[in-house]
Amino acid sequence: MPGEVDAPHVPVLAGPAIEWLAVRPEGTYVDCTAGAGGHAALIARRLHGGRLIAMDRDPHAAALARRRLETFECVTVVRANYAELRAILDGLGVGRVDGILIDCGVSSMQIDTPERGFSWSRTAPLDMRMDPTGGTTAAAYLRRVSIEDLVRDLKEFGDVRPARRIARAILRRRDAGAMETTDDLAAAVREALPFAGPEPEELRTVFQSVRIRVNEELRWIEAGLAQAIDALRPGGRVCVIAFHSGEDRVVKTLMRDAAREQRLLYPDGRVRDRIPPRLRLLTRAPVRPDDEEVRNNPRAKSARLRVGERL
Ligand SMILES: C[S@@+](CC[C@H](N)C(=O)[O-])C[C@H]1O[C@@H](n2cnc3c(N)ncnc32)[C@H](O)[C@@H]1O
Repeated sequence: MPGEVDAPHVPVLAGPAIEWLAVRPEGTYVDCTAGAGGHAALIARRLHGGRLIAMDRDPHAAALARRRLETFECVTVVRANYAELRAILDGLGVGRVDGILIDCGVSSMQIDTPERGFSWSRTAPLDMRMDPTGGTTAAAYLRRVSIEDLVRDLKEFGDVRPARRIARAILRRRDAGAMETTDDLAAAVREALPFAGPEPEELRTVFQSVRIRVNEELRWIEAGLAQAIDALRPGGRVCVIAFHSGEDRVVKTLMRDAAREQRLLYPDGRVRDRIPPRLRLLTRAPVRPDDEEVRNNPRAKSARLRVGERL
């Protein structure tokens, strides 16, 4: 397959995630973000009579997962955005499920495939689409973004502090016709931070912000997690691994809201209806990787796992 890399993706928080899913051998599970199939294989190994639906919106990832999981008869791999979870399950004739995993963000294979443009350290066109069959490339987004929108995206999706300074440098280059490659974007970040050394942390966070915007990642987490909670049978669990504060905020808010009674009000403030809580939070504070995991897999450093159980 074009652009495929050998570098394996090491599944993050694999032990805790699988334990918290509490896989029952005959249960039905969904891995919304199959990637290289690491978590999925661990779930599949525990199934006897059960079923796993593994999905990924990236056609290369879905193809890789299909190959890596082909020895498990219980696994169905689907190339899809997990924001279509309900429709996918309906299409497969699956009603309620016992557990759902969402491992947010980007995979090592995506980062390490230079021509996809995810990495600031590899020269490539600014693409960054997880699903290269549609949507907007990073270059197209940067071509038309306004300064205010760019500043907001850098702050919201990367916690970038000198956001305006970097946004100005990006737009200066863009307006001079030089914002088409990963090198162009990296050069703008370096220009904005001339005293920060050749490898400022903002290279990572600016690329992350652009990637999250291009792939609308937080929007899909919100839509997918809401459907995931609906799709669980009582006692079923949803596990979500987030990698930065923007992702984790969406997960935490959605789970917390689902764990509360919702009140629907009339315009005058009287209560029209009460929707009982649908979720019990099993992790008050998120589960973090231990020192050994971070040592072996530095990508795990910022990971946080939250788990809810359907009431
Ligand atoms: C962190 S990796 C998952 C790695 C996987 N757990 C493993 O063990 O190999 C995240 C994956 O989620 C996919 N992804 C991100 N957003 C998605 C979405 N909205 N729908 C489906 N897949 C998505 C990405 O393409 C990527 O392959």
